[in-house]
Amino acid sequence: CGIVGYIGHRDAYPIIIKGLQRLEYRGYDSAGIALYDGENTLLSKTKGKVEDLKQKTETSISISGKLGLGHTRWATHGVPNDVNSHPHFSNSGDLVIIHNGIIENYDSIKQALIKRGYTFESDTDTEVLVNLIEEVKKKEGVKLGKAVQIALNQVVGAYAIAVFDKNKPDEIVVAKLGSPLAIGIGENEYFIASDASPFIEYTNNAVYLEDEEMAIVRIGKEIKLRKIKDDSIAYPNILELQLNLEEIEKGGYEHFMLKEIYEQPRAILDTYRGRLLADKGIIKMAGIDQNLEKFLNANRIIIVACGTSWHAGLVAEYIFEDLARIPVEVEYASEFRYRNPVITEKDVLIAISQSGETADTLAAIKLAKEKGAFVFGVCNVVGSSIARETDAGAYTHAGPEIGVASTKAFTTQITILTLIALKLAHEKGTLSQSKYHEYLTELESVPAKVEKALLSNPIVEEISHIYKDSPNCLYLGRGYNFPVALEGALKLKEISYIHAEGYPAAEMKHGPIALIDEQMPVVVIATRKGHYEKVVSNIQEIKSRKGRIIAIVTEGDVSVRELADHVIEVPETSESLSPLLTTIPLQLLSYHIAVMRGCNVDQPRNLAKSVTVE
Ligand code: G6P
Repeated sequence: CGIVGYIGHRDAYPIIIKGLQRLEYRGYDSAGIALYDGENTLLSKTKGKVEDLKQKTETSISISGKLGLGHTRWATHGVPNDVNSHPHFSNSGDLVIIHNGIIENYDSIKQALIKRGYTFESDTDTEVLVNLIEEVKKKEGVKLGKAVQIALNQVVGAYAIAVFDKNKPDEIVVAKLGSPLAIGIGENEYFIASDASPFIEYTNNAVYLEDEEMAIVRIGKEIKLRKIKDDSIAYPNILELQLNLEEIEKGGYEHFMLKEIYEQPRAILDTYRGRLLADKGIIKMAGIDQNLEKFLNANRIIIVACGTSWHAGLVAEYIFEDLARIPVEVEYASEFRYRNPVITEKDVLIAISQSGETADTLAAIKLAKEKGAFVFGVCNVVGSSIARETDAGAYTHAGPEIGVASTKAFTTQITILTLIALKLAHEKGTLSQSKYHEYLTELESVPAKVEKALLSNPIVEEISHIYKDSPNCLYLGRGYNFPVALEGALKLKEISYIHAEGYPAAEMKHGPIALIDEQMPVVVIATRKGHYEKVVSNIQEIKSRKGRIIAIVTEGDVSVRELADHVIEVPETSESLSPLLTTIPLQLLSYHIAVMRGCNVDQPRNLAKSVTVE
């Protein structure tokens, strides 16, 4: 998902194509471009890569024009195909838009516009937005900038948009809420992009829009900024960029993994955006709502996944059984598919996959479908094979994950599965009204708490220095945090190549305790809610064998602090939501240790992001 726009004295086409290629790292599944040469608009869109778009476009007669918009799309509403790709036109054909983000209330706006005679070619929320702008413009008799502002005050969601009007080809209107938008300021020309990488070779001067700001960029005029809500004037903070291209793509972070770790508050919010309406006590998820009976009548839920996604499944097992009282089995997809499993029509299978392409998970889905089970997918990549193969599903909306070691995909998978469990618990009546409402409110506070958990970074970095040369590491947790221990160990071994094991804390005495000596770091998740005293006893067992204890504790903890060598605090939350917080320092720990050991963090040896072989 990336946007690029140009208005000025040069040919827009090469600038936009090259710009889109620079944004390829953001991940996408289709691309498009619109150019205006004063008379005609050229529109070219395609599923696939920018290279495909180039080939498709360059066979057309005219690719001239000093005004243009380009887009790479990472599907959220509607499958990736040519029609759903951006740019989109308004019904009159005058307005052209590109958009990143999600308009949550697009459906009700769409219905209202249909009543007024508007028609729609695509399934996208974006085509709804451009027609809303057109409708406002006509009805109120206002200019484009004003129409955009009025329209945006009617939408709920996140966006970075750029729009132009063919009748006024000397300006582009841009606006931002949630998704990034940068404006490059040249001599008598302006560049628009998701980050500065598409225009850094033309200008070092850039303005980054703040949330709820919009700007009108007009040839020969200074840039004008306004607040979308109240129309007040905002003053552009023009920065002089001194970054190189790669630095920009990583948004100032040294690695994609670190960027993605820090994106988690936003990613979790994007996952429940439009689905969790805490004040109304509602969880809205089309894939569940339409198949509610299937879930409520299920004998059991079988979860299949691989790697980190399997760990998210394990967390889900706790929450589904605990809150919704539905029996759950969590299976490695590779084992499940080959062991002649007992599956009946009364089973619901949930397949979890970031990429939506993992071969074993896909095969497990096919098997379950053959046996008549209802199959539900939890994927991050829209339109992926698993998303297409399942009977219904829910996307995580984490945004593209580039680092091979999964981070934000994990926490957003847990978020989705928590929403499903809460919804089913509510429908079944296994959770009291007051508890249900408490959970909804608590879930809403998670992004802010993740933000706080990220503040432990400097302490985690210090601890990483001490243990970076350890040959082994043990991770322990109980209950909801047992899968987190497994995930912490997986993160460390996959990117730092240190041998690490995750264990249920109480199982330690049945084997791993033999490994403990003064050389052995043991990471223990010891948050206050959930088996706290039991975990404290386990910590004592480690201490008396001289193991080195790194404890993840709840803010203000006293008892564990006295026993542990190091403590890392996370904010307080309910036990069932705690994995979303305790995971954070473990991700940071593996990250720092890997960096200190000189490992290739984003592309660890022998690993692939998407495993399409069994
Ligand atoms: C690979 C990746 C892991 C991922 C696993 C499952 O091993 O390196 O990060 O957890 O596949 O992938 P999926 O896309 O199905 O979640």
